[in-house]
Amino acid sequence: EKIPLQIVANKEEGAKIIATLISDLIKEKTAQGKKTVLGLATGSSPILIYKELIRQHKEEGLSFKNVITFNLDEYYPMHPENKQSYVKFMWENLFDHIDIEPQNVHIPDGTIEIDQIEPYCTQYEEKIKSVGGIDLQLLGIGRSGHIGFNEPGSAINSTTRLVKLDPITIADAAKDFGNKEAVPTKALTMGINTILSAKRIILAAWGKNKSIILKKMLEGPVSTKVPASFLQLHTDVTVFADKDATDEL
Ligand code: GLP
Repeated sequence: EKIPLQIVANKEEGAKIIATLISDLIKEKTAQGKKTVLGLATGSSPILIYKELIRQHKEEGLSFKNVITFNLDEYYPMHPENKQSYVKFMWENLFDHIDIEPQNVHIPDGTIEIDQIEPYCTQYEEKIKSVGGIDLQLLGIGRSGHIGFNEPGSAINSTTRLVKLDPITIADAAKDFGNKEAVPTKALTMGINTILSAKRIILAAWGKNKSIILKKMLEGPVSTKVPASFLQLHTDVTVFADKDATDEL
């Protein structure tokens, strides 16, 4: 099955469309007296989406009081106060600027003791299930083919766990950490199964440096070598790409 692809003029336009899909879902669920469970991503790809959601909150009264969030991943080890932590990223780029209840925010904890990681990951999965599962999962894609931090070799039935980062991912993260040596070699991430369990999935791919991996994900075989290709097995995925990202298609 082919993944539906929506090509947008640029990431600004793409971000507006995606943010509006998210806010429409929140409004619809809120009107039904229901919570909206969002799976959220970090990286450069979602930043403008979060900006637009903040704008809709400030200018149009979009409320996040009935929203529960689960982030995909976090470096390990990682302290939340660290400049590169995904906790810091999420608060700075979204949560600090909206009316979400802090107890409704979930981000994998990079300070968990190594011997507590297994039960912690099991709990993360159970928390997602206990609120009815993820309604909409937002994704970026790494040049290694990762979604979340599910690097090549990730199994289709994988769940939240500690993983080793791919050398491509470490090289790409070096700009955030100053140099390659400073990048953590591991991370906590939702699994492929966790992601595929979301009711609806939206993936954003902006820029020329995503064009080769986008082609593999959309046109290549479903393979653990390209974890994002597992999305071909989901029945409600939309990929949003700008013109540059579609250069290889
Ligand atoms: C990061 C994140 C991923 C993200 C990807 C792409 O390392 N763990 O969830 O999708 O890499 O990042 P960017 O959006 O900056 O290209």
